[in-house]
Amino acid sequence: MSPFPPVRAGQGQAGQCPGKVFLVGAGPGDPDLLTVRAARLLGSADVIVYDHLVGTGIVALFAKDAERIYAGKQNRRHTMAQGDINDLLVRLAKQGRNVVRLKGGDPFIFGRGGEELETLAAHGVPFEVVPGVTAASGVSCYTGIPLTHRDYAQSCIFTTGHLKDGTLDLDWDMLARPRQTVVIYMGLNALPEIARQLIAHGQSRDIPAAVVEKGTTAQQRVVTGTLTAMPDLVAALGLQSPCLIIIGEVTALHRKLQWFNTVAGNVETAEVFC
Ligand SMILES: C[S@@+](CC[C@H](N)C(=O)[O-])C[C@H]1O[C@@H](n2cnc3c(N)ncnc32)[C@H](O)[C@@H]1O
Repeated sequence: MSPFPPVRAGQGQAGQCPGKVFLVGAGPGDPDLLTVRAARLLGSADVIVYDHLVGTGIVALFAKDAERIYAGKQNRRHTMAQGDINDLLVRLAKQGRNVVRLKGGDPFIFGRGGEELETLAAHGVPFEVVPGVTAASGVSCYTGIPLTHRDYAQSCIFTTGHLKDGTLDLDWDMLARPRQTVVIYMGLNALPEIARQLIAHGQSRDIPAAVVEKGTTAQQRVVTGTLTAMPDLVAALGLQSPCLIIIGEVTALHRKLQWFNTVAGNVETAEVFC
């Protein structure tokens, strides 16, 4: 049975938008991490607008006759500007189509999902939101790095390391506090600056840290070491986006708790302990 309401072009009441937009999280990469609801929607959407973080395993689940629109958006390589994506979603829904707007991870965590919904709301376009497994959660589980642990971290902070005009304006005092885990999205390019600022604000130079490339996929790579060593390690190993940075004592547990490489077989794990 289709998860969509039986509304088609021209059938809406006067003044109502006949289509609907489903803002859906695709999870961090492994297609098995899609929610059941996401998989059902992808299998029967009229049109799917998706981002670069959506992998081929998930694209393979798209309905055969669905129109596919790649919206891209990668650091400094925007295929479609955010405003154009917003306008596109409004236009498609007004044509009476059931639109899945598919985003990597969770649409409400560093996904600009809120901005897209604000535009839809302003144009009277109905919508639903389907959560996804965010990168922090997927990467944490697939690397054996629990984000909280009674012995090491009582809280966990998600932040962005995206550089604006080459600088990072973060609350470094708060991020450098002990007994917490800091997860940094989009921080690969800023890693040297992140390490420098944290240490300057009191973080131990030897705090364990991890950088995880393409987490939850067969290409997952995990680099662990001290915060001081991490920028050089990551550069030497040539890690590429998407990468997640995890800083905190919990990252040392990777050595003991990792399981994914043994299950997936072909995972390349580059571990470096200092
Ligand atoms: C624009 S943000 C989108 C986050 C997404 N909405 C989420 O909830 O995971 C993109 C960043 O998420 C992180 N990321 C997403 N998928 C990842 C993965 N499979 N492995 C490592 N990091 C990932 C990286 O830091 C990447 O630069």
